[in-house]
Amino acid sequence: MGSNNFCFLRGVWYIDKKLLQALDSFIVVEKQGEIIACAALFPFFEDKCGEVAAVAVSPEWRGRGQGDKLLDYIEKKASSLGLQMLFLLTTRTADWFVRRGFCECWIECIPEERRKRINMHRGTKYYMKKLLAADTTCAIYYDNSVRFNSL
Ligand SMILES: CC(C)(COP(=O)(O)OP(=O)(O)OC[C@H]1O[C@@H](n2cnc3c(N)ncnc32)[C@H](O)[C@@H]1OP(=O)(O)O)[C@@H](O)C(=O)NCCC(=O)NCCS
Repeated sequence: MGSNNFCFLRGVWYIDKKLLQALDSFIVVEKQGEIIACAALFPFFEDKCGEVAAVAVSPEWRGRGQGDKLLDYIEKKASSLGLQMLFLLTTRTADWFVRRGFCECWIECIPEERRKRINMHRGTKYYMKKLLAADTTCAIYYDNSVRFNSL
């Protein structure tokens, strides 16, 4: 195999690995074979914090506590991973998170590794929430109709 092919395959493998790692961070809620909500937790172990991202509930299921359950699960999962804080970036759903204990913070509070990838033109605001002590009881949190990807 030529060195160009080798570099190409190595590149594909690297992208696939990154993609798989990212997929592992997603949590989906499934009802009757349909995904009705999702969220992601990206841990930054060195900074002992995690990013909450991609929180979304399908329109028909909104206002029925699915967002709350997802966030609760993420908080427990983050604690069980030894993380002490959660942070998030949002341009439009700040109120929802503030009602759930998040406080606006400076960009300097965001891990440097994540800060480098922030698009400063989006008018994003940053929020953080301190987590309670580790809780490892979240393994089975939902009923059987709900599936979680492992983190
Ligand atoms: C924000 C979102 C995840 C909430 O999910 P949900 O399952 O409807 O949330 P819950 O049922 O747990 O909570 C509903 C409560 O949040 C409130 N709420 C919903 N969207 C809100 C918003 N954008 N800002 C403030 N409050 C909001 C509802 O009015 C309701 O309040 P109540 O309990 O006083 O009646 C959902 O509306 C959604 O998917 N929005 C579009 C995607 C999005 O903006 N995601 C955030 C990306 S950072």
